[in-house]
Amino acid sequence: MSKLTNEFDCVETIRKGTYWMPFTANRRVKADPHARLLTSAKGPYYYTADGTELFDTLSGLWCSPLGHAHPKIVEALKTQAEKLDYAPPFQMTNPQTVHLAERIANLAPAGLEHVFFANSGSEAVDTALKVALGYHRLRHEGQRFRMIGRERGYHGVGFGGMSVGGIVPNRKMFASGMMPGVDHLRHTYSPEHMGFSRGQPEWGAEYAEDLERLVGLHDASTIAAVIVEPVQGSTGVIVPPVGYLQKLRKICTKYGILLIFDEVITGFGRMGENFAAQRFDVKPDMITFAKAVTNGIIPMGGVIVTDEIYNTFMTGPENAVEFAHGYTYSGHPMATAVAHAVLDVMEEESLFARVRTLEPILEDAVHGLRELSSVKDIRNIGLTAGVDLCSADGAPGARGLAIFEKGLREGLLLRCTGDTISFGPPFISTPDQLREMIDGVRRLIQFAS
Ligand SMILES: Cc1ncc(COP(=O)(O)O)c(C=O)c1O
Repeated sequence: MSKLTNEFDCVETIRKGTYWMPFTANRRVKADPHARLLTSAKGPYYYTADGTELFDTLSGLWCSPLGHAHPKIVEALKTQAEKLDYAPPFQMTNPQTVHLAERIANLAPAGLEHVFFANSGSEAVDTALKVALGYHRLRHEGQRFRMIGRERGYHGVGFGGMSVGGIVPNRKMFASGMMPGVDHLRHTYSPEHMGFSRGQPEWGAEYAEDLERLVGLHDASTIAAVIVEPVQGSTGVIVPPVGYLQKLRKICTKYGILLIFDEVITGFGRMGENFAAQRFDVKPDMITFAKAVTNGIIPMGGVIVTDEIYNTFMTGPENAVEFAHGYTYSGHPMATAVAHAVLDVMEEESLFARVRTLEPILEDAVHGLRELSSVKDIRNIGLTAGVDLCSADGAPGARGLAIFEKGLREGLLLRCTGDTISFGPPFISTPDQLREMIDGVRRLIQFAS
């Protein structure tokens, strides 16, 4: 066995800390590295080095809704590697990247017609923020430099994304590096008004008026854009109240502020529609996407913008670069080939319709956990759900971690952040697999109570 696949060497290397794991309690992993080694995956399951089968309750990191090792996608990857493995994206392009832009634009709400490729959600967000700055400058409103994010929001880890993000542990270590002029809307979660809500809470549209407060404070003439996740994913599935996103849209339009929907999680079917913009019937000025567009197989992200934004950039001398921004791997041909195969499979297998069929099954199953005394709240929408647990006395996060670690021995790869469990199972899951997932979680919560 080569050193690369030798499990013993691998475990020793983890213990040495040579591999510094992202967003991970690294020292905790060292205690039992075997349990953290995924060695293969098929359909909605991962397999660990010791052969344990784990149901993929979050579709990887929200990114693999078609499950793993889909033969059509594997084939597309191989074929593309032999045909055109890389093409420079500056001044040159390739047919499948161009076609993918058209295909993605066709999935977006009418009027969002132009696609700029990046390689991750973080890059997509930073790209969108730069588009917003450039757009206002080109319109001779360069004084609009402020970005408005939202408390509890997650927009990746670039300097732009972290600045508009609103998750405290992701911000506090880097406070000195925040972009200037950023402010945040209040988050929309109020357990006393919307505890255990199924789908969109009826209460809370008024939270959108918080934008009026920020306009009052900073003046609209200084604000470039508002960026929100239509459904806040990473903070534990916070669902927008009925009417909230509509109100936000209205206020942005009133003041000439661009509205960016960060659809890195919600894009490509997670809400049972192409984008959450369609599910909630609100048209933003930009949509960021990543993750599911390539089923997580190869990195890709991007931004979809309106005609108005694109045309604003397409001015000046024809030989000049209109937007001094881009990545060596923007629109990488391997990624775009995979994305075509992913979109083919999504269409052929009617997977967005399947999400709509599975949504009430997940909803019923997950709300069944309410009877457990340590469950504090449950929320769901599309094929997502969040379950908050009461924290153990004096040890926030301990219960979530215990459940995560026990889950690895009980056949579930869970996403626990603090004492919140988030679910985003693959679209290919069967109703029985969803019910079994929740039954498994019930046992784990009971174990950890
Ligand atoms: C809404 C949102 N935006 C941005 C990102 C960052 O994406 P990436 O990790 O690909 O940089 C994420 C990741 O979970 C996300 O959920």
